[in-house]
Amino acid sequence: MSPRVCPWWLGPLLANPLRKLLQDPAAILGPYVREGMTVLEPGPGMGFFTLEAARRVGPRGRVVAVDVQPRMLEGLRRRATRAGLADRVETRAARAESLGVEDLAGKVDVVLALLMVHELPDAARFFAEVHPALAPGGKVLFVEPRGHVTPAAFEESLAAAERAGLRRGPGPKVWRSLTAVLERA
Ligand SMILES: C[S@@+](CC[C@H](N)C(=O)[O-])C[C@H]1O[C@@H](n2cnc3c(N)ncnc32)[C@H](O)[C@@H]1O
Repeated sequence: MSPRVCPWWLGPLLANPLRKLLQDPAAILGPYVREGMTVLEPGPGMGFFTLEAARRVGPRGRVVAVDVQPRMLEGLRRRATRAGLADRVETRAARAESLGVEDLAGKVDVVLALLMVHELPDAARFFAEVHPALAPGGKVLFVEPRGHVTPAAFEESLAAAERAGLRRGPGPKVWRSLTAVLERA
């Protein structure tokens, strides 16, 4: 595993409910995730945002959560089952260089790229893979941790997203984060 990948044993800490006091998933996802949507969440960890997305899409929607660490996905499945949401959360194992979401081409309403792009070996490849998965008008909620990621590095990722065919717009306010919303033109 690349040293930039957050270790799996930090998963429970990231999913700790106290984090909601600083980064509230309901407030952050509320404007973007609606009933019946198909949501793709790369790098979900143990599901801090995933469970809220699953509640919002309801029984007719689905959340496809793709992580490179099997232990993160195990934790996420456990938490989704406990919350009664497992029926609408699909977990998938990613390879370091690919999410493996070709089957979702044109079907995804929202991609949640939350605090994970800085862990990838190649942001440009990530956005090039995400773009075809989006439905026309589909959006990427892109959030990176301020500090870990400098404004200049965030800007580079945004430029890569634009080269992949995504149009950038302002993102929501998220505690200690750099944010943008990217849209498939
Ligand atoms: C800092 S954690 C953030 C987890 C979650 N989004 C949150 O905010 O609680 C980053 C996550 O991205 C995952 N990740 C790292 N590289 C990845 C890759 N190439 N493909 C998919 N997931 C990856 C890590 O395993 C980890 O679960």
